[in-house]
Amino acid sequence: MNIKQIFRNNEEWIAEKLKTDADYFKKLTYGQNPEVLYIGCSDSRVTAEELMGAGPGEVFVHRNIANMVPNNDLNAQTVVTYAIKYLKVKHIIVCGHYHCGGVKAAMESSDLGLLNPWLRNIRDVYRLHKEELDSIEEEHDRYDRLVELNVQEQCVNVIKTADYQKAYSERAITVHGWVFDVHSGKLIDLKIDFDDILKHIMEIYRLI
Ligand code: CO
Repeated sequence: MNIKQIFRNNEEWIAEKLKTDADYFKKLTYGQNPEVLYIGCSDSRVTAEELMGAGPGEVFVHRNIANMVPNNDLNAQTVVTYAIKYLKVKHIIVCGHYHCGGVKAAMESSDLGLLNPWLRNIRDVYRLHKEELDSIEEEHDRYDRLVELNVQEQCVNVIKTADYQKAYSERAITVHGWVFDVHSGKLIDLKIDFDDILKHIMEIYRLI
């Protein structure tokens, strides 16, 4: 991608926005009030706002390799806290995607240096669901299922936080697990049954 072209695109984008609303950028200076926190993969094919048809101001976004919410990652945890406590978002979406390079790397045996501790979080997801995953014959299907289970576990990681538990006891807030299908462009709601999952583990993770 040509860097000069990016600045030309930006000029065109400004002109386009001002054509429909002369105060478009003035309004953006008033602040943000997004109702949605989106946690997705850094993968360049999975563009957060574009695939949801969302504009500036609508979605608070956090992206990292394989859409993770590790319990000891200050970056992800800060985003979750800020979104819940201060932006008071109503929805938290963890969106994975099929053909995720991060998830694929976690299924293979290779030393990737600094990436190892990050990807180990996904290996831990595999270990938690080893029985189900090992029973899937086709490697490709197992890979897709690990993408989905990783989304599920990252949603659970959000629910493990005190900020989420406190907000949940006070107001309407929902966690959603989604997958983006690179093949079709479709956004798929995994319809994760959190009540069923949490029934067995909440006694361990309840903080408030
Ligand atoms: Co990815």
